Amino acid sequence: MSFEIIIEKGVCVIHFDKVDSTNSKAKQTALLGYDSPMLFIADCQTAGRGRLGRSFYSPDSTGLYMSYLYKPQTALSDGVAVTCAASVAVALAIEELTDLKPAIKWVNDIFVDGRKVCGILSESVTDKDGVTSIVVGIGININTQDFPEDLKNIAGSLKTNLNRELLAEVIIKHLTRFIETMPERKFIEPYKKRSMVLGKQIVFTANGKSSVATAIDIDNNGGLVVKLGEHSIMTLSTGEISVKIEE
Ligand code: BTN
Repeated sequence: MSFEIIIEKGVCVIHFDKVDSTNSKAKQTALLGYDSPMLFIADCQTAGRGRLGRSFYSPDSTGLYMSYLYKPQTALSDGVAVTCAASVAVALAIEELTDLKPAIKWVNDIFVDGRKVCGILSESVTDKDGVTSIVVGIGININTQDFPEDLKNIAGSLKTNLNRELLAEVIIKHLTRFIETMPERKFIEPYKKRSMVLGKQIVFTANGKSSVATAIDIDNNGGLVVKLGEHSIMTLSTGEISVKIEE
């Protein structure tokens, strides 16, 4: 493993050729202490992590694997909303730099042409002095062509030769804007606009039980508001359930 440190538009960027997980590196750094936001980028990850304990396939030089580390200025519950903000930041960056039309599958997967091209894993970590940091981990398949057997039917890539550093820069531009204006929730409307679940029938699993519902809204914390039957409405909060769009 080797790395270089660059200061890019006021953000300290640590670039690894190979690392276990940029999220893990960011969390370790948070525990050691740091002054201003940092961005960890890797050419490849040997133990990329996804949500719900899954791994994230991160082959060499075909994707963007990055983690943004910062100290939130507002309520910790915003740490959940930042995941939605990150989805919108990624979608906006893809739209800005390509002709593609990304869609967001709740909570924070980005799809292009029916295939998942990006996953986001936000984590929080509190140091010994009680200072909490948030790590927003983003993995994008830029031009990955061969996926392992278990991902072949789900995963896809942007299929472009998009410059990775430029993509990272545009994502961070949008993400930092959303973080700085977090109480205004400026990302919720653009999130809804790109949602591929709103208005659709979904199947969700909670406490081991599957239910069918209609996705009707996204609330200010990024929760998915669903309608069950005629009269029952409930909000699914991030991280607790999995959602499938019915075929
Ligand atoms: C998911 O699809 O469940 C989330 C995947 C998140 C992957 C990114 S890649 C960069 C960062 N480092 C990790 O180990 N995970 C995130």
